[in-house]
Amino acid sequence: LVDCSTLYARVGGRAFFEGLVDRFYEEVSGDPTLRPMYPDDLAPSREHLTSFLIQYWGGPADYSRERGHPRLRIRHAPFPITAEAADAWLAHMRSALAGADGLDGADADELDAYFAMASRQLRNV
Ligand code: HEM
Repeated sequence: LVDCSTLYARVGGRAFFEGLVDRFYEEVSGDPTLRPMYPDDLAPSREHLTSFLIQYWGGPADYSRERGHPRLRIRHAPFPITAEAADAWLAHMRSALAGADGLDGADADELDAYFAMASRQLRNV
């Protein structure tokens, strides 16, 4: 029986978020605006975003156990997040979402709306 109470469970758990974040960072690694903001080794960034999203969407709370409260605005303060950078981030995440197989339409819409809202909120320039 599939637990339908969380989006995390509906989309198939950890594997879905790992695939999403892999596709996302694959694009970020070639983005001239975003790539310079990230560390040379993208593996820790990949793990942070994966575990954050898993926790946010109702999966295990490993993110907060390992990293503490998300405080995303404060954690993004060191990076100049212009409208252009936020748009680029969202475009890569939308492309990663489009690459997901068998995602239910309502779940896709919910994820899309969240990423659009969150990327807009993190603009700080
Ligand atoms: C708006 C454009 C954005 C830019 C340019 C951006 C850039 C960055 C950069 C450079 C880092 C530091 C490297 C790392 O530790 O991963 C980071 C961390 C992070 N970002 Fe973003 N980000 C953006 C939006 C978002 C959004 C919308 C979310 C959530 C939905 C998010 C979630 C995270 C998380 C969870 C971390 C790791 C925080 C930590 O535990 O240290 N970011 N981001």
